[in-house]
Amino acid sequence: MTKVIVTGGHGKLGRACVQDLTEHGYDVLVFDSTPAPRADQRSVQIDLSDFGQTLDAFLGLDNHPGQVDAVVHLAAIPAPGRQSDARTYQNNTGCSFNVFHAAKRAGIKNIVFASSETVLGLPFDTPPPYVPVDEEYEPRPETSYSLGKVIDETLARHLCRQDPDLKMYGLRLSNVKEPAEYAAFSGFDSDARLRKWNLWAYIDARDGAQAVRKAVEHPGKGFETFIIANADTVMTRPNKELMAEVFPSVPFRRDVGPNETLLSIEKARRVLGYEPRHSWRDRPL
Ligand SMILES: NC(=O)c1ccc[n+]([C@@H]2O[C@H](COP(=O)([O-])OP(=O)(O)OC[C@H]3O[C@@H](n4cnc5c(N)ncnc54)[C@H](O)[C@@H]3O)[C@@H](O)[C@H]2O)c1
Repeated sequence: MTKVIVTGGHGKLGRACVQDLTEHGYDVLVFDSTPAPRADQRSVQIDLSDFGQTLDAFLGLDNHPGQVDAVVHLAAIPAPGRQSDARTYQNNTGCSFNVFHAAKRAGIKNIVFASSETVLGLPFDTPPPYVPVDEEYEPRPETSYSLGKVIDETLARHLCRQDPDLKMYGLRLSNVKEPAEYAAFSGFDSDARLRKWNLWAYIDARDGAQAVRKAVEHPGKGFETFIIANADTVMTRPNKELMAEVFPSVPFRRDVGPNETLLSIEKARRVLGYEPRHSWRDRPL
C-alpha cells in the first residue's frame, strides 16, 4: 500500500484529499496543527513551522513505522487577510521549507504541494496579459500570501535542480469550494466585478483532490506547476461579455466556450490526465 503524508489534512482541501486517497487505496497519515477531528483518523498533531517536530515525524513515529512514499503538502494559512501579512508569509514559507527539507532527509522523492492561483496576478487590479491565463508567464504575486507561494515554487525548482530524482509538482489551485457553497453562486451574475479577482474561476474540493492524486501518481521527475480549476466559471453570463465589461484591453489567445474556465487547465489535462467531474451547475435546483 502506498504510504502518503498529507499536511494540513484537517482543512477544506485536505479533508477531500484524505477521503479521495483513502478511497483509492492509499495509506494516509495526516500532519496538522489541529487535533484529529475523528478518533479513527490517523493524524499527528504537529506545528510544521517547528523543524524539530517536523523532522522527527518525517523520520518515523513509534506507532506509524515504515517508509513514506509521497508527501502532499497543503498546510498553510490559505489566503491573504486572515492573519497578519508577516505571520501568513512566515508560517507558510516556514512550513514549506521544513516539510521539503524533512522530506529530503527522509529520502522521499515524490512531493505534491499546494501553490495558488494568486501567483497568476490575483486580484487582477493589473489585468492579466491574456486569457485563458496559463503557466507560461512569470508569476505576478501581489500579496504576502502569494509571495510565499512563489517562494515555495522557487524552493521546489531549486531542490529538483539539486536532485534529478526528485519530483515536486506545485498545483496552482483556484478558489476551493464545497458543494454546500454552490447555492450562493447564482448571486454572482448580478455584478461582473464581484468575482473578477480570479477571472470567475473555482475548484470543487473533490476535483482538487482528484488533481492531487493524479499528481502523486504521475511518473515524472523534476519541478512542474499546474493550474487546477474546474472546467467552467462561476457565472452564467458569457466570457466575451464579462471580459468586454471588466478587462476590455485583454486579448483572448484562443476561442473559449461561453462559460469555459479562463484559468487554463489544458496542461493538467494533457500531462496529469486531470478531468474535472463536478460543476456547481449540476446541483439540484
Ligand atoms: N482555500 C482556497 O481557496 C485555496 C486556493 C488556492 C490554494 N489554496 C491552498 O491550498 C492549501 C489548503 O487550503 P485549505 O483551503 O484546505 O485551507 P484550510 O485552512 O482549510 O486548511 C489548512 C490546514 O493547514 C493547517 N496548518 C496551517 N498552518 C499549520 C502549521 N504551522 N502546522 C501544521 N498545520 C498547519 C491548518 O490547521 C489547517 O487544517 C493551502 O496551502 C492553501 O494555501 C487554498
